[in-house]
Amino acid sequence: MPNNNLHITGHTRIVGVIGAPVEHSRSPQMHNAAFAKAQLNYVYLPFHVRPGEVARALEGFKAINVVGINVTLPHKQAVIPFLTSLSREAQLIGAVNTLSFGEGQIHGDNTDAPGFLQALREFKGEVSSESRQHAGRDSSFPEGEDVVVLGAGGSARAVVVALTLAGVASIVIANRTVSKAIALAEEMSKKTGVTMHGMGLADSQLPATVSQSALLVNTTSASMESSQPLLISADWLQPRTMVYDIVYTPPITPLMQAASSVGCQTLGGIQMLVHQGAIAFEKWTGVTPCTEVMRQALSL
Ligand SMILES: NC(=O)c1ccc[n+]([C@@H]2O[C@H](COP(=O)([O-])OP(=O)(O)OC[C@H]3O[C@@H](n4cnc5c(N)ncnc54)[C@H](OP(=O)(O)O)[C@@H]3O)[C@@H](O)[C@H]2O)c1
Repeated sequence: MPNNNLHITGHTRIVGVIGAPVEHSRSPQMHNAAFAKAQLNYVYLPFHVRPGEVARALEGFKAINVVGINVTLPHKQAVIPFLTSLSREAQLIGAVNTLSFGEGQIHGDNTDAPGFLQALREFKGEVSSESRQHAGRDSSFPEGEDVVVLGAGGSARAVVVALTLAGVASIVIANRTVSKAIALAEEMSKKTGVTMHGMGLADSQLPATVSQSALLVNTTSASMESSQPLLISADWLQPRTMVYDIVYTPPITPLMQAASSVGCQTLGGIQMLVHQGAIAFEKWTGVTPCTEVMRQALSL
């Protein structure tokens, strides 16, 4: 939806997103709606940056005083060599989704990890949607819990890092390609000291592991298609297990439906998407945005 309140002046500050492609991104709607609501003179723009053009794009952003940039595929790793500093989350994940510019410096963050936790804690009622100061540091759920993560791709890396920062007891990573699950578990366990184990989706241990877990997180794109069979059986789920599917299209996935039918609490990915954006917004402007306006602007 166009932002009819947009008034570009000589004072307008620029933020945006780089990707290839970038046309599908809903971040411009989400951020511009929040800028309008907060009455901030900022504009958020999409920039199609081809692979191989990242260094030139970043130099250009520095030269024209861009405030901040979100980074989407395929540049999340490619930007790293050009940064002046990197947050601990981004280092652990090995990918960056938010850049902040200032005085010739570029700082890289990954807001997917704190966004994932903020949405979880908001759902559990432990923090309000407008207060992010404790995200990533609270000593509450899922601290001390055993967790299963389905998937071993880019978003699984952010989720696993978030869970370790939240102090979970153990993480089992189950993935279609077993070697990726084992490699991710070994890498993250070594980096964080948290007990982790990688296995395949057909592993005979998976049903019991899911049954005993307090939290099951789906990070696979398999969950987007209602025609696809569920990656796990709903029979493995106990009502005490919370199911968090970070997929946001559809907002209620077949996995969430199956989990609800056996009495589990479920959470989808829209609030994670909103909070990863809200955390970037706050880093750039120093202002806490209205997350309800951001969510509505996504039109999901
Ligand atoms: N809510 C949010 O803010 C947020 C943030 C990031 C991502 N996401 C969503 O998370 C999903 C994954 O994103 P990603 O960046 O992690 O993608 P990715 O790096 O491409 O990883 C995809 C994962 O899904 C698995 N997978 C794909 N199709 C499968 C199938 N048919 N059966 C079993 N496993 C399958 C892959 O397994 P293999 O390794 O075997 O290929 C891999 O583990 C997307 O839907 C994305 O929109 C949401």
